[in-house]
Amino acid sequence: MTDAARLERRIHELAQIGRTDDPAREIYATAVSRLGLSAEEQRARDLVTSWCAPHGATARRDPAANLYLRFPGADPHAPVVLVGSHLDSVPMGGRFDGALGVCCAVEAVVSLVESGARFARPVEVVGWADEEGARFGYGLFGSAAAFGRLRVDPERVRDKGGTSIAEALRALGESGDLAGAMRDPKGIRAYLELHIEQGPRLERAGAPLGVVSDIVGIFHGLVMVRGEQNHAGATVMGERHDALVAASHMIIALERIASSVPDAVATVGEITVKPGAKNVIPGECTFSLDIRAPKQESIDLVLERFKAEANEIFRKSLREWGLRPLQSVAVTPLDEDLRDLLWKSAMSVGMNAPTLVSGAGHDAQNPSLAGVPTGMIFVRSTGGSHTPTEFAATADAALGAKALEIAIRELATA
Ligand code: GLV
Ligand code: MN
Ligand code: MN
Repeated sequence: MTDAARLERRIHELAQIGRTDDPAREIYATAVSRLGLSAEEQRARDLVTSWCAPHGATARRDPAANLYLRFPGADPHAPVVLVGSHLDSVPMGGRFDGALGVCCAVEAVVSLVESGARFARPVEVVGWADEEGARFGYGLFGSAAAFGRLRVDPERVRDKGGTSIAEALRALGESGDLAGAMRDPKGIRAYLELHIEQGPRLERAGAPLGVVSDIVGIFHGLVMVRGEQNHAGATVMGERHDALVAASHMIIALERIASSVPDAVATVGEITVKPGAKNVIPGECTFSLDIRAPKQESIDLVLERFKAEANEIFRKSLREWGLRPLQSVAVTPLDEDLRDLLWKSAMSVGMNAPTLVSGAGHDAQNPSLAGVPTGMIFVRSTGGSHTPTEFAATADAALGAKALEIAIRELATA
């Protein structure tokens, strides 16, 4: 039986790792900064292991720092049921994004074990590493490594402090040889992930649970613009080549373009200005691009229009500009049979779960794109997401864990 009090305790316990409240600001009352491949993420893996080991799970960490907790099944060679989410957060994030999926996966599997269920095949709880990509700029890292979809050189990509992905992994005791993280998709019967919705649709529908049909495609890139560094007082207004002003025009253009393409969204969340002094006209500016939509054509359209407008802005005042693609994740339809199974499982706990498209990216994209039947269940959340105010009620989370338990029972004991 799903134990709501235990689930709540564990959500709270996990939120203590990387807790970064700022007492000066009410909004940060439950802030969590548990970046991917950090010591905090490692402590989270240890904590989750301590929850599962007493129930017969064997823990394994792969070279990408993903954590697997394997509960044995009658046939040890049968394709496994994999269930989980990620353990990292964005800086100053909330308690639920990723963490809730791991806590509910543990609750669902442990309560099955406690109820005496006998698995025909192994069941593995997974805590993916570095889903957010907040530290190294490459999202869905651990699941990408597991499903052969990593397109990044771990020796070359570095965080702001100059540490490479490979060095961060070695500091955690891993070899840094990511090939060893690969899993055979055929060895996985199904991947299930529970996650907070991170948007307002379930709340508006008055529904605690939803079932995901598709996950948006994502384009991540870096724009570099170069103007001319010069004196802030001695350069008249008509003779400037201000990189930050040009970048600002590009960012405003992006906002307008994305607003004109249905279902597309675009965000600039990072910007750096060089040399960065009050009395110097900026010579160089670099900013990030995050463009998403449920259709690849819409992403392509936003990008195409952005490039056209950026070229215009370049011609007016810049010396150089460029766009470097960093990561693309394809639009991901999820498995229809698992969608039905999750809907029926939600019905078994009395919830008619609406079908939703996810605007957030998820680790579920990697197994699904590698051919593993994949399903996702959303739990109603309020207060936004990627912010300390994100919130999911324990009662809703417990319903999600219970539905997950029913779905796992169906897949693992049949
Ligand atoms: C992850 O949360 C993402 O959608 O970027
Ligand atoms: Mn997130
Ligand atoms: Mn997430």
